[in-house]
Amino acid sequence: MLNKENVLEVLKDVIYFPKGDNIIALNMVDNLMVKDNAIRFDLIMEHANDPKNDILVNGAKRTLTEVFGEGLDIEIKVVEEKTALSKVKHIIAVASGKGGVGKSTVAANLAIALARANQRVGLIDADIYGPSVPIMFGLGNEQPAAFEKDGKTVMLPIEKYGIKLMSIGSFVDPERPLIWRGPMATSALNQLMNDTLWGELDWMVVDMPPGTGDIQLTLAQQYNVSGAIIVTTPQKVAFADVLRAAMMFKEEALQIPLYGLVENMAYFTPYDLPNNKYYIFGRETGKQFAEKLGVPFLGQIPITEKIAESGDAGIPLALDADSPVSKAFDQIAQSIINV
Ligand SMILES: Nc1ncnc2c1ncn2[C@@H]1O[C@H](COP(=O)(O)OP(=O)(O)OP(=O)(O)O)[C@@H](O)[C@H]1O
Ligand SMILES: [Mg+2]
Repeated sequence: MLNKENVLEVLKDVIYFPKGDNIIALNMVDNLMVKDNAIRFDLIMEHANDPKNDILVNGAKRTLTEVFGEGLDIEIKVVEEKTALSKVKHIIAVASGKGGVGKSTVAANLAIALARANQRVGLIDADIYGPSVPIMFGLGNEQPAAFEKDGKTVMLPIEKYGIKLMSIGSFVDPERPLIWRGPMATSALNQLMNDTLWGELDWMVVDMPPGTGDIQLTLAQQYNVSGAIIVTTPQKVAFADVLRAAMMFKEEALQIPLYGLVENMAYFTPYDLPNNKYYIFGRETGKQFAEKLGVPFLGQIPITEKIAESGDAGIPLALDADSPVSKAFDQIAQSIINV
């Protein structure tokens, strides 16, 4: 017999494979209405526009038809899950194929440049193995505030220079380097993303660990990432690393667009003589890499002792709006905003 209870029972046979359980157990069905031969309900999905949603909707329709027969009037509306990130417009990953090229430096200064362009900005330090946001923003031992809500611990991001910050570094004793296994790293990232009251943000910048590991996969597969920026240095041999990072995001299963390439440490410039540029490692390498990959070239950041000093001092250089380095970051910010 077609009634609400029986429909709920039947829907328990509809499995959402990415989460390995049925759609009733996963609380994905809402506003169920059964009347005459009509069945209506909302199906709560992570992303409203995911083409995979159709597979589940069709699966549910087929299962209902198999049990209750043809001639049903079934209407399933996909609605997007309200999460801590539902008011975050863009998630942007700052990544590289290898370590030490300046991802954290680019992520921090880009966040500041975006904020200067009147954007609401959050910055997540997803580098579980070597967090740097607490140092670059001079957070010292400051911890995010935490409180209980509906039996769950939620956190408030730390705010500094107008940017909402969360870092795994806030949870880890810097004196005791942790050996994080893949699943622990993934669950730490999920906590930073999901259990934090981010509020409304135009941009969430994510400072990634080097390479192509669990964190990259988790971010790309479980979140709606708008795009990635790849950071490189001007040595020609760096192309293999750039290519590896780019290929990962382009992979069919992930399909994260690339905003483009940033060439860090592109040339040396004495801070007081910004017009003197010394191309120590090669000229135009970043631009050539971008052309080879067919992605936009977003800009060059010079090597200057001030960048390293200000990073260590917790006062990112981009805060000084007049510095030539800030202008480079302002340009990168603009090209991302204009995409
Ligand atoms: N343009 C630059 N000029 C001078 N020093 C720089 C520049 N960019 C980065 N550095 C310095 O190089 C070091 C590495 O930079 P950073 O931590 O940003 O790299 P990363 O890619 O995030 O490294 P990791 O892979 O370890 O996360 C830091 O000490 C930083 O201050
Ligand atoms: Mg880093």
